[in-house]
Amino acid sequence: MTVDAPGVSEIPGGDHREIDAEWDRIVRSPGSDAPSRRALLRSFAEELRFHLAVEEAELFPRMRERDPTQENLVQRLREEHGQIRELLDRVERELERSDPALAALDEELRNVLGEHNAREERFAYPWFDRNLTSGEASRVREEFHRPRR
Ligand SMILES: [Fe+2]
Ligand SMILES: [Fe+2]
Repeated sequence: MTVDAPGVSEIPGGDHREIDAEWDRIVRSPGSDAPSRRALLRSFAEELRFHLAVEEAELFPRMRERDPTQENLVQRLREEHGQIRELLDRVERELERSDPALAALDEELRNVLGEHNAREERFAYPWFDRNLTSGEASRVREEFHRPRR
């Protein structure tokens, strides 16, 4: 790691872009090909749940401990994670149906995820770039890159 290595924010920020792209692939995939749609959804859901879990384990607690003025933000982000997980469960249930209707869930997921990710990128991730020690930043990078399986 070089001295002027970038902060951590580009890693979860890059995840946001990849997760959006994966969702686009699911919505654009032909509804008639249910097995490949479900396979896409499995990898999307796994990535997204992993991203939420790493944020909750590695980022939010540090922010809350070190800077009590961020309590409301952390609380809000955690509530949004709950909404995102509920939506994921609903999408998974929907895609198990023989004739899944994704349009409403598509709009809801884009809204919830879009607002949440923008809040993190604007208010939370820059805080980590400013406040994590280089040791903590390395650990966060490792955790985001930990092999999933
Ligand atoms: Fe998040
Ligand atoms: Fe995030």
